[in-house]
Amino acid sequence: MVAKIIDGKAISQGLQQEIKSIIAPLEDKPSLAVILVGNDPASAVYVRAKAKTCGALGIGSNQHIFNKNITEDSLLALIDELNKDEKVHGILVQLPLPKHLSEEKILAHIAPEKDVDGFHAMNAGWLSMGSSQAIVPCTPMGCRVLIKSVQADLSGKDAVVIGRSNIVGKPMANLLLQENCTVTVAHSRTQNLQDICRNADILVAAVGKSEMITAEYVKPGALVIDVGMNRVLDESTAKGYRLTGDVKFDDVSQKAGYITPVPGGVGPMTIACLMVNTCLCYFKQKHQPVPEGLKRLL
Ligand code: GUN
Repeated sequence: MVAKIIDGKAISQGLQQEIKSIIAPLEDKPSLAVILVGNDPASAVYVRAKAKTCGALGIGSNQHIFNKNITEDSLLALIDELNKDEKVHGILVQLPLPKHLSEEKILAHIAPEKDVDGFHAMNAGWLSMGSSQAIVPCTPMGCRVLIKSVQADLSGKDAVVIGRSNIVGKPMANLLLQENCTVTVAHSRTQNLQDICRNADILVAAVGKSEMITAEYVKPGALVIDVGMNRVLDESTAKGYRLTGDVKFDDVSQKAGYITPVPGGVGPMTIACLMVNTCLCYFKQKHQPVPEGLKRLL
C-alpha cells in the first residue's frame, strides 16, 4: 500500500482564507501579543512565522522580545499589563523559556481567556473534562483537523499517541477521547512500543526523535500523523540543517493508509489554529457570537 499524503499546507491555507474573510468586515481587529525570551533559533523562526501570518490575515500582532536575562518579575509585570489591555485578545509565551524562569508560574499568570496556546491549567482542565469552554492547544487542534479531513468518524478507533507533553501528547489524547477513540499514551518508558503502535488505526508521533518511527511500528493502512520537527545537521543545505519528522517517511508511506509530510504537514496547521484561537478569544472577549464559519473550522 502507498499512503495518501495529507497536505497540511493546503488545508492550512484553506483555514487561513476562511479566517481572513471572517476578519475583513470587523471594525477593530483581533490582536495577539507574542513574548519571546532568549535566543533559541527555532523559537525565533516560529515567532516570525506567527507574526507574518497575523499580518497576512489582518490580525494585529505585537512582539515582546527579551534577552535571556530578563527577570521573572519583569515578565510577570508585562503579562499583567497585557492581561488588562482591552486591545490585546491573545497572549502567547514562546516555549521553551530559559531555565531560571518558571514556565508553570508564567503560564499560570496569563488570563485564561487570553491563553491562545491553551496551556493554562484552567484550559487544560476544561479540555480534560470535555468542556467546550476550553481553549484547545494549537498543534493537537491542527492534528485533529488533519485526521478528520480523511476520516470523519473516529468512533471506536484505536489511537496511539507517542509523547506525553502538556503541549501535544496529553491534549491530543484528550481530543481523541472526545472523538470516542480508545486511546493509549506511550512515552519513553513504554515497553513493547512497536507492538503497541502496530495496533493503532491512528498513530500520532510526538517524540522529538528524528525518523524513529519506521514501518515496523505501523499497522497496514493506518493513519499516521507526524508532529516531529527535528533539525538534523546537513552541510549540503544552505542552512546547514534539514528538517525531519519523527516518522521515517519513505519507509512508513509504503505501509500506512495516510501520512502527513514534514515539512508541510502539522507545522502549518499549528499556526493556522493559533489564528483560529486568537479569533475565538476576540469574539468571546467582545461578548459577540462566534461566527458559524469559524465554528465549522473546529
Ligand atoms: N514551543 C513549541 N511549540 C509551542 C507552541 O505551540 N506554543 C508555544 N508558546 N511555544 C511552543
